[in-house]
Amino acid sequence: MEVTWREAMRRALYGERGFYLRERPDRHFRTSVHASPVFAEAVLRLLRQVDTALGRPRPVDLVDMGSGNGLLAARVLAAAPPDLAERLRVTAVDLSPRPGDLDPRVAWEPQVPYGVSGLVVANEWLDNVPLDIAEMTPGGPRLVLVDPATGEERPGPAPGPEDLAWLERWWPLRSAGERAEIGRPRDEAWASLIARLAHGTAVAVDYAHLAGRRPPLGTLTGYRDGSLVPAVPDGSCDITAHVALDACAAAGERAGAETTTLTTQREALRELGVTGARPPLALASTDPPGYVRALGRASQEAELIDPAGLGGFGWLSQSRHREERP
Ligand SMILES: C[S@@+](CC[C@H](N)C(=O)[O-])C[C@H]1O[C@@H](n2cnc3c(N)ncnc32)[C@H](O)[C@@H]1O
Repeated sequence: MEVTWREAMRRALYGERGFYLRERPDRHFRTSVHASPVFAEAVLRLLRQVDTALGRPRPVDLVDMGSGNGLLAARVLAAAPPDLAERLRVTAVDLSPRPGDLDPRVAWEPQVPYGVSGLVVANEWLDNVPLDIAEMTPGGPRLVLVDPATGEERPGPAPGPEDLAWLERWWPLRSAGERAEIGRPRDEAWASLIARLAHGTAVAVDYAHLAGRRPPLGTLTGYRDGSLVPAVPDGSCDITAHVALDACAAAGERAGAETTTLTTQREALRELGVTGARPPLALASTDPPGYVRALGRASQEAELIDPAGLGGFGWLSQSRHREERP
């Protein structure tokens, strides 16, 4: 029986036997976390900046939201210098069960705790938050219904007033056949994360698009075993859609964020010292193994900031510093 895409995605990814409760994401696609340890090093640099700005509190939090297998959390903890590591409280948040081999110092939770003081990183989380799809028909916008077993679609009822308002503000549909992914559940998910941040910074890193440049047919995609597959929400593959990060930013501000930066991974990582610069050729003769190592690192950095790949991802960074009540 057909259901809305939001319901179909929810069941396919997080329902009983859902894709993410069964599978670890790194088997199916390569995120920045898995592409290279350089990503965790950059997150550590950001954490140190946030820690300094907060006056080196005890504890200082690192929360890895939508952690997958906990690798980012574990790598940052392993690389933290002693003066930070002994104050650091690391929490990986995911709906899947705790991986057996995760560093025991990393807490594993199904939700972001309230009152985080420090840094929250959500790498490729929001694109997996289920959402509805609307399609413009000659009779106006309609929610798209889908058969979870086959992926076959048909137009359903008109979107409700809140969805229509979201569409009008963030992704207006003009011509018949145009489709929009209604990002309201992502806005709400991000706002609820910002509401749990007492002091510090939250960063969402994801495939993103901005108002005025939305893809007219949407971005809904399936992934299985490293390959693109048709987006059939039967639980056998990941189902993802790019994120309207500008809408999430506005929701974060309504939830209390005081500063917002919306940029690309390329720019954000370059600010954190990831430049992709090749080592000087002279090193090849004075220290050949060092040269080869530095070259390997430069190519990993280049992959993370490649504007046509991971470097083109959106980075939404929002901070808040909530006044404590007396
Ligand atoms: C694409 S994976 C990203 C994994 C990891 N951050 C990385 O970059 O490799 C998305 C993860 O978000 C988790 N997730 C989705 N919605 C969630 C929620 N509401 N609460 C906690 N985890 C969630 C999924 O279980 C999945 O492991």
